[in-house]
Amino acid sequence: MKIFQATAELTPLAKTGGLADVSAALSLHLQRSGHDVRVVMPFYDTIDVSGLDIVPVDYLQEVPISIGSRHGHYSVDTVQLPGTGLSIYLLRSPDLYHRGSIYTQHFDEHRRFILLCRACPEICQRMGFAPDIFHCHDWHTGLIPLYLRTIYAWDQLFARTRSIMTIHNIGYQGMFSSDVLPDLDLNGFEGMLHQDDLRSGVINFLKTALLHAHHLTTVSPSYAREIQTDAYGMGLQHLLRGRRDSLTGILNGVDHHEWDPATDTLIPFNYTAMELAGKRACKRALMSELGLTGEIDQPLLGMVTRLTSQKGLDLLHSVLPEILSRRPVMLAVLGSGEPRYEHFFGELQHRFPGQVCFYRGYNNRLAHWIEAGSDLFLMPSLYEPSGLNQMYSLKYGTVPVVRETGGLADSVQQINPQRGTGTGVLFRDYDETGLRWALETALDLYANRTLWMQVMRNGMAQDFSWQRQGAQYEDLYRQLMVRG
Ligand code: ADP
Ligand code: GLC
Repeated sequence: MKIFQATAELTPLAKTGGLADVSAALSLHLQRSGHDVRVVMPFYDTIDVSGLDIVPVDYLQEVPISIGSRHGHYSVDTVQLPGTGLSIYLLRSPDLYHRGSIYTQHFDEHRRFILLCRACPEICQRMGFAPDIFHCHDWHTGLIPLYLRTIYAWDQLFARTRSIMTIHNIGYQGMFSSDVLPDLDLNGFEGMLHQDDLRSGVINFLKTALLHAHHLTTVSPSYAREIQTDAYGMGLQHLLRGRRDSLTGILNGVDHHEWDPATDTLIPFNYTAMELAGKRACKRALMSELGLTGEIDQPLLGMVTRLTSQKGLDLLHSVLPEILSRRPVMLAVLGSGEPRYEHFFGELQHRFPGQVCFYRGYNNRLAHWIEAGSDLFLMPSLYEPSGLNQMYSLKYGTVPVVRETGGLADSVQQINPQRGTGTGVLFRDYDETGLRWALETALDLYANRTLWMQVMRNGMAQDFSWQRQGAQYEDLYRQLMVRG
């Protein structure tokens, strides 16, 4: 199949969260499966270019483009995704993408992603690439399905192209004032935007994709159901209910080239389910690195997360201090984000020295160390489309304690102590009682060493590889091509 992937993030070049991991790993899987995959992302100035061999594409240099009244140019370079055989295309436009961060609050943020949405079909045209599947990820690429149906529809190149929008997170929709309408350059096709939104002065990029993509996916079966409800749909539930026959939930996968304790080059000791000594050594190394002074046999709870309300952090305020005061549990937190949460974890570290360590910031190596060195991993998410860290945790023998929502519900099974089955502890209701119960239960179970080892091995035996999850995308692509 000829497959085009359009994304704003790609590991390891530009990443704020799981979107980057999934765009990269899915593209790699598709290429390894023998498909012709073209991947395009913006060339941000934040990309660390050292060691990269960036080659300009000669027929894609200084291509003129107008976005509304702004006349400019874009160019395209190729680069090999580090550590892989996959070439990707970087969309170069310094005045839009040299902003010091992937996303901005600047007045022209919409233009940064309109350019991406316009350049992707144009790159196909200039390459003579007729994609069977145009796979768009999140709001940043949300106008592509509309553009394929309107301003580029004249081109027979796209006559058989099927577009897919994958919703990684419905909390981010790309909403702009309708003042930006001229910048969309719809040339008479304005009627294809959501008219009620336009009347109320809004243009919503994700919603536009939900209206016009041939098919919609999201990153777990449970989230596919949840986003059709008032509680989770963030205003898009009615539209999604209307398109439920074109909505598929496919759980994310884990890139085992990066996340496997047997081969991980970032962790201090490797280990497997058969030989777990390395995990204990990783725990000792992590404690020493973070200044955690408890006994090695005391449970160590890890967290690696963007610090936003999505991640359920509001539940922690009284529960964590209470449990830390009562039980000999250690806590290692890596994250950055909203100041109120950074403040909370900073205070917690201050109040429980040697028992809590909060590392504020982004640190991939430490993320691997925490996955490997912790006993338990906490994700009390308010909502979680898929979540990757709980799957990394399972692979690393680190037992997840999670809220039963979205991809967490689809990847973690409740422990049954009598039968020795299950892989983690889940709580259903988003409240402190639920979280307290889950943490107490997990800590009690941790004391039963035989059971705990069994649960660790149950988790390590799970298969969330892209081999498996990626095959579901391939099946979907084929169905769309046949169905038309
Ligand atoms: P989300 O995309 O909502 O942030 P996911 O669980 O899908 O959640 O993916 C998060 C990804 O980002 C994981 O690969 C995780 O290891 C990584 N990550 C999140 N915060 C940090 C951080 N502070 N430092 C390093 N990696 C992080
Ligand atoms: C989003 C979601 C997360 C998901 C990731 C990749 O950021 O919050 O649950 O795993 O996208 O799909």
